[in-house]
Amino acid sequence: MTDTPLLEVRGLHAYYGQSHVLQGIDLVLGHEPLAVLGRNGMGKTTLCLALTGLLPSVRGSIRFAGHELVGQAPHRIAALGVGYVPQGRRIFPSLTVEEHLRLVPRRATGTGDVWTPERIYALFPRLAERRRQPAGTLSGGEQQMLAIARALLTNPQLLIMDEPSEGLAPVIVEQLIATLRHLAEGGLAILLVEQRLAVATAVAQRIAIMVGGRIALETTSDRLLADPALQQRYLGVSARRAA
Ligand SMILES: Nc1ncnc2c1ncn2[C@@H]1O[C@H](COP(=O)(O)OP(=O)(O)O)[C@@H](O)[C@H]1O
Ligand SMILES: [Mg+2]
Repeated sequence: MTDTPLLEVRGLHAYYGQSHVLQGIDLVLGHEPLAVLGRNGMGKTTLCLALTGLLPSVRGSIRFAGHELVGQAPHRIAALGVGYVPQGRRIFPSLTVEEHLRLVPRRATGTGDVWTPERIYALFPRLAERRRQPAGTLSGGEQQMLAIARALLTNPQLLIMDEPSEGLAPVIVEQLIATLRHLAEGGLAILLVEQRLAVATAVAQRIAIMVGGRIALETTSDRLLADPALQQRYLGVSARRAA
């Protein structure tokens, strides 16, 4: 391993027409998980879209594993090893679990350690049980597993997830946290976008807080959890609502 970070974002700006949403993002990610936390409307999804090539009006630099991603098409960015779990999961209700997994374009990695549907079913036994069911009949937690499974099958080096805990019951959120920790321990780089402080801090020690299209603060989970005033200032959450 070299000192070069896996992902290095410099001066990233992004626009929807005239609307200037990302206003100079700098982020560095190595192999330690990073969580990007922020309230609604701060630009988190826009950052994900810019990183994955889904929002083309972007300026600045996104270096990933020796490649410049700005200006590249989404399929090319995926082929370079960036996996993406979009906000809201985006599954196809009428396709079965198995069909979802079969439809994923697989990336050749050159190593033996690749994701296969069998390995996915071992990680998520619930998906194995429901392999012939239409995805629309799955629970929210199972749909989130499927969305993660689909991203893993592309054999990413980096997994970007946009609010994966959204709409999930607390016990399912705990399972999600355990899964993400397991994947990180297995060597997958994780960029977790979250609105929930408890989820972000359970997965990542490094925290970047977004306010108004900028990274307003970089800190650690320990420091953020120990400082309600900091939480209030950047996230507008009281200790009561922090979970
Ligand atoms: N398609 C769009 N067109 C114009 N403005 C948008 C669009 N999507 C999001 N925005 C605006 O960009 C800002 C950031 O949105 P978003 O990235 O979705 O925030 P977050 O994911 O943090 O909730 C918001 O002000 C939002 O209204
Ligand atoms: Mg969002």
